[in-house]
Amino acid sequence: MQTTRRGFLRAGAAFAVGAGVLGPRALLPDAAAAETPLQALAARSGRYVGTSAGLVPLLTDSAYADLVTRHCSVLAPENEFKWSVLRPTPGEPFNFVLADQMVAFAEQHGMDVRGSCFTWSNSNPWWFDVPAFFNPGNALQLLEEHIGTVAGRYAGRVRSWDVVNEAITGQGLVPTPWAKALGPRYIDNAFTIAHRADPAAQLVINEYNLEYDNRFSRDRQAVMLRLLDELLSREIPVHALGVQAHLVHAAVKGQFNAAQHLRFLRSVAAMGLKIVITELDVSDKDLPTDVAARDRGVAEAHQRYLDCVLQVPQVEGIVSWGLSDKHSWIRGNPDTARFAREDGQDQRPLLFDDRMQPKPAYDAAARSLARARRAAPRTR
Ligand code: G3I
Repeated sequence: MQTTRRGFLRAGAAFAVGAGVLGPRALLPDAAAAETPLQALAARSGRYVGTSAGLVPLLTDSAYADLVTRHCSVLAPENEFKWSVLRPTPGEPFNFVLADQMVAFAEQHGMDVRGSCFTWSNSNPWWFDVPAFFNPGNALQLLEEHIGTVAGRYAGRVRSWDVVNEAITGQGLVPTPWAKALGPRYIDNAFTIAHRADPAAQLVINEYNLEYDNRFSRDRQAVMLRLLDELLSREIPVHALGVQAHLVHAAVKGQFNAAQHLRFLRSVAAMGLKIVITELDVSDKDLPTDVAARDRGVAEAHQRYLDCVLQVPQVEGIVSWGLSDKHSWIRGNPDTARFAREDGQDQRPLLFDDRMQPKPAYDAAARSLARARRAAPRTR
């Protein structure tokens, strides 16, 4: 179903008029059915909208599965392609049980898949720390076997791969297990192997904290531009930069400078690369307990960020890191204690609330998508 633009504007006006604690939509159980799918709004400028999701929520929470398939044309399995899931035990066959189901789910619903990731310093199996299993002598063979097998198995079914994830610091490269074993050329190796296994796939270098006009982000931007330039000068098959965009409300408010971010994105585009916003969400940690104030702040941050990046034709799509607050990685994850709010409330970082109802951030994203500049044609 596709709602008309007038219908969308009406919904927006209704929100503006009745600014209750949860917003008027929360009072209407079937209100989500009246929302224009984000993927339809994105398609108007030639883009896509996607989300990450885990297999368990998709299979056990049908309201969430409906929300995801209604609004998104791209599915990014949240953990199912990570080394720790695919290779729990050294020397044993790959475990594709979860990844296969994610790809099947996407195919059943006509969605493209973004796979993540082939090299990272996190979510690696325990045996990466055991020299008998992982060492400089066998690392290249492991990389070849892993990427060759995984990208080969899903060739033509996974459209885009994060080949290298979170590889840089503000000074150079992160000492990931791969960098330690193989040196900086592990990046060349990973891209080359992936391209050989699936020549049609889009190969992405995915990075966090590239978004702000502060020393930390600017240093990281400079390192990334240098790295991309070097990779391209060696004709390494890298096709796109993934900008994670795990944003924090206070940082967007105080340290985001659209002109500066545009300069960075345009420098990437000038190299002939595409850009994917791969993991968008907005932490509300700095905002007061009041839900309406938090939702407004999260919406404002989405709006500012999306209005900026959607001016760049090479930004080909927006992938949110989850769609409903209920399933955000920021909640209840043992790794994310640093994101806990001081008042003990759950964070509300996404476009839809726990009941799958659209939040002001949905309206913000919809507005940005509706006025986005036309995207450059997709090549992969
Ligand atoms: O599956 C186990 C479960 O059996 C166990 O009981 C439970 C208790 O610890 O842990 C579960 O695994 C957790 C997994 O998420 C599934 O919930 C891992 O501990 C936890 O580390 C893992 O966190 C994921 C994290 O990456 C690390 O891989 C998050 O879900 C995922 O959202 C997050 O995603 C990353 C991107 O890949 C890269 N960019 C940053 C982004 C956010 O950190």
